[in-house]
Amino acid sequence: MATTAEYGLGEHMFPRGWFMVGTSEDATTVPKAVRFFGEDMVLYRGESGRVFLVEAYCPHMGTHLANNSTSYVITDKEHVEGDNIRCPYHGWRFGPDGQCNDIPYSPAPPPKKACLKNWQVEEKAGCIWMWHDEEGGEPEYDLPNFEMYDQPHWVNWEIDVLGELDCHPQEVVDNMVDKGHLGPVHGSMDMVLFENVFDDHCIRQILTAGHKTLAGSGGEPMTNDTWYTGPGILQSVMIGEFPSHMLIAHTPVDDGRITVWHALMVKVANQTPTEEDVAMARGYQQASLAAFSQDFEIWANKRPCLNPMMVKGDGPFDKLRIWYRQFFNPRARAGEFQKRANGKYVSRGTINDPWDQVA
Ligand code: FES
Ligand SMILES: [Fe+2]
Repeated sequence: MATTAEYGLGEHMFPRGWFMVGTSEDATTVPKAVRFFGEDMVLYRGESGRVFLVEAYCPHMGTHLANNSTSYVITDKEHVEGDNIRCPYHGWRFGPDGQCNDIPYSPAPPPKKACLKNWQVEEKAGCIWMWHDEEGGEPEYDLPNFEMYDQPHWVNWEIDVLGELDCHPQEVVDNMVDKGHLGPVHGSMDMVLFENVFDDHCIRQILTAGHKTLAGSGGEPMTNDTWYTGPGILQSVMIGEFPSHMLIAHTPVDDGRITVWHALMVKVANQTPTEEDVAMARGYQQASLAAFSQDFEIWANKRPCLNPMMVKGDGPFDKLRIWYRQFFNPRARAGEFQKRANGKYVSRGTINDPWDQVA
């Protein structure tokens, strides 16, 4: 693996944006240790149902707030009270704002600096998301809506947890413009169109191609519309007999290391999906996961690529890497990188390549 500095991405080690930090099932009243952006954190659900993400170590004497099973704070079920979390060591209790609001044995009010760092989280579409910003600013764009989740005709996704990957997220994001791998890795054939649109914090890929195994009956090419909202959330819509909506989320754990999730929702004819619909949707999700695993295996074993060796017919890796830098630099500079990347790029070498036709 290589680091953000080695890729020359910018001033910040970690990107700014909305990122997945777990599934809804990960957040319970039993606090869970997690690690993202080089920090140990604790994820828990308060008794109100709200989800919180706080730093893992108690400001009093550094105890880990989640990793304990034997203290009476845990066994007497005082770990989470209301929306507060209590430290297993001396029982200091911290509120939803991170501020210590109870020291069971001290007559003095808790000191102001007894405060846990905490992050803005949202729960949506069965996932927990956090806003990460090394400058500490408010979100500069909205978390996607995932509007078909819980809607009639849609089978909700079940999240596949792919786990940690020893790979800088740059290599994963590169995939958006990587026209050349689609045939060898995924079995795409007879590519009709490969187009990328960079639009401020978003990048889109439109792919129309046949497929060795997936393409619709009759060999009709299918169109995939795939986009990133910010640096860590990819969605893809595949139009076919059963329209589907895919999620791939990746979040830095440490510099050059990420956690990855995958999921797929499928649209069915019945307003309320039947058991058969659900089984079919799970089959689709398996096939989608298998396709994603083809990328995952490459990433898990490759050496870092600090500078792609580009040839005619490759997608716009150079633009992609400029686009990605907006998230690693102060937000005041984001516009600079957006201006350099924004626009539409149609890659060469498709079966009706407009340039080859002109030539
Ligand atoms: S270390 Fe947490 S209360 Fe003392
Ligand atoms: Fe891929």
